[in-house]
Amino acid sequence: MPDMQPLSAGFGVEVAGVDLARGLSPSTFAELERAFYDHQVLALRAQELTPPQFVAWARRFGPPQPHVIDQFHHPEDPNILILSNVKRDGQPTGLQDAGTYFHTDYSYLQVPARATTLYSRVAPKVGGDTLFANQQAAYDDLPDAMKRRIEPLVAIHHYGNRNDQDEGSRTVASVLTDEQKAKMPVITHRIARPHPVTGRKSLYAVSGSSFGIVGMPDDEARALLDELAAHATQQKYLLRFRYGVGDVVIWDNASLLHSATLIDPSDARTLWRITVLEPSRDAAAPQLLAPTYANGGM
Ligand code: SIN
Repeated sequence: MPDMQPLSAGFGVEVAGVDLARGLSPSTFAELERAFYDHQVLALRAQELTPPQFVAWARRFGPPQPHVIDQFHHPEDPNILILSNVKRDGQPTGLQDAGTYFHTDYSYLQVPARATTLYSRVAPKVGGDTLFANQQAAYDDLPDAMKRRIEPLVAIHHYGNRNDQDEGSRTVASVLTDEQKAKMPVITHRIARPHPVTGRKSLYAVSGSSFGIVGMPDDEARALLDELAAHATQQKYLLRFRYGVGDVVIWDNASLLHSATLIDPSDARTLWRITVLEPSRDAAAPQLLAPTYANGGM
């Protein structure tokens, strides 16, 4: 059984003694998958992976979904999105910022992300950490009156950052081409969303892609989403992860918000990223409600 040490008092574990390049036995993967749902963030330090090995790791958690920003797909495999501030011959080699605001990956899709995994290739000298915010804890701590208020509410999502839509800003969502924008739907998700596997409720994507609430005037909806986002991103819910070269991180998008942090653009930072989808709704329940999670408090 792999050794696991907490990354913070609240959530996240660092897993030792696993070499992802060698692949994972069914029993080791079962341990890691369980830890993924129990701890929400897993970190495996100093891995040495080829693109196919990194993709094989991600596939254990679900089907990879290439990012809509296709300019920075890895040449060997489009499932890998290159995040990088490094320029070659004046041209970007990757997507410089993949969300320097709290968000949940692919919450702008009807079938959103189950997990995102990053593989650090070049670590900056200063900063470049990823912040995670525990949305299960944030939901649990809400006053009962607020839990009752949001229980029936459904948020309206589309690609973007509700708090910054200035395409010249670094805290805007990564800017899409007109063709990419045309592919982006408007969809809905519950605000108090049960986890698709464990059933445990989280505040879901109250920061980032949520722009309104079904049946609620816009100003009231924005005010409520902003209030929930301020609650959900308090220091007490945060974990800060600092990368070394080779570090692999994977996180549970259903129960977390995350944010990249702004760094000096001349301090090189490169990661590979793969995002895998939740199972489609029709297939989800029978396939994934393992007995250990079946009583997880819908
Ligand atoms: C992401 O939001 O997927 C990337 C996070 C990071 O670059 O720290």
